[in-house]
Amino acid sequence: MNILGIETSCDETAAAIVKDGRYVLSHVVASSLKEHQKYGGIIPEIASRRQMELIQLVVEEALSKSSLTLSDVDALAVTSSPGLIGSLLVGLSYARALSYATGKPLVEVNHIHAHLYANFLEFLANDKASEKKVGKRPTLPAVGLVVSGGHTSLYYLKNFSSLSLLGQTRDDAAGEAFDKVARILNLGYPGGPVIDRLAQTKRNTRLKFPVSELSNSFDFSFSGVKTAVLYHHRQHHQEKDFSAAEVAAAFQHNVVSALVEKSIQACLAKKVKTLLVGGGVAANSALRQSLVEEGRVKGINVFFPPLTLCLDNAAMSAGLGFHLR
Ligand code: KG4
Ligand code: ZN
Repeated sequence: MNILGIETSCDETAAAIVKDGRYVLSHVVASSLKEHQKYGGIIPEIASRRQMELIQLVVEEALSKSSLTLSDVDALAVTSSPGLIGSLLVGLSYARALSYATGKPLVEVNHIHAHLYANFLEFLANDKASEKKVGKRPTLPAVGLVVSGGHTSLYYLKNFSSLSLLGQTRDDAAGEAFDKVARILNLGYPGGPVIDRLAQTKRNTRLKFPVSELSNSFDFSFSGVKTAVLYHHRQHHQEKDFSAAEVAAAFQHNVVSALVEKSIQACLAKKVKTLLVGGGVAANSALRQSLVEEGRVKGINVFFPPLTLCLDNAAMSAGLGFHLR
């Protein structure tokens, strides 16, 4: 069964074709990120206007890259929440109109659940080797950690129609904290990839920012570390030995430690051996390394999507749609 997925929850306009809920035949993502960079964050009005212009082209490209036509598509899946309302409306209206015009069924999917579903997707052998995901396949039940620009949540997943929330951030999302810290350090937007790269140049820093404990809870809090970075920067940035790389490394260490600790604790508490990670921050190299290492110690198999499927994409919506149709 071929499902055409459509995703427009933030600044991306994305379409993909996924076969049988697993094989990505094509996936196209057009981003308007460059147009938002000078503002240091996503401007919803700019995002939805670009999505209006791009949606038809992106869907056509996804079809042509998969060598299928619309008549080979069996069903449609679209992200219906959460996200920017103007952006969601573009994808949702397009998908509803297409479903009505073609008589093909339409499934509406949750964007956060879709981020976790990205772990079940595979590229076919003729795709770029770097995008091929081989090895063990995840099984359910599992604990799911979603870390994106808008969300930081831990779930218990029995199956994809039954997810229960174990904990979430009480203030900033992890990705949002990366973006805000990058802004303080004048590193541009989005902050995650640049902090990730910079932190790699300063592995052993003695600088430490306070950790939000929130014991007896699977909740997170990242506004404290962000504010600590702000005060540290204000106080020290004109000093000769001030190092943005050192701040980036200490901040990243703080966030990654909290994510690793709570996720592993959740797996142990729920007695599951599978941890699924998803969302833009799942691309973070320190988080990937630390979770895999800690998982190995505790006997937990940790799964991350291929890098291109960590960020917003429509393949994850199409894949999840297969199971919810
Ligand atoms: O999932 P996503 O594409 O969009 C949302 O649904 O929010 O995530 C975007 C977020 C941004 O905050 C970005 O800074 C962060 O993911 N991000 C990273 C990395 N790559 C992207 N954060 C840390 N390390 C990275 N390598
Ligand atoms: Zn997302």
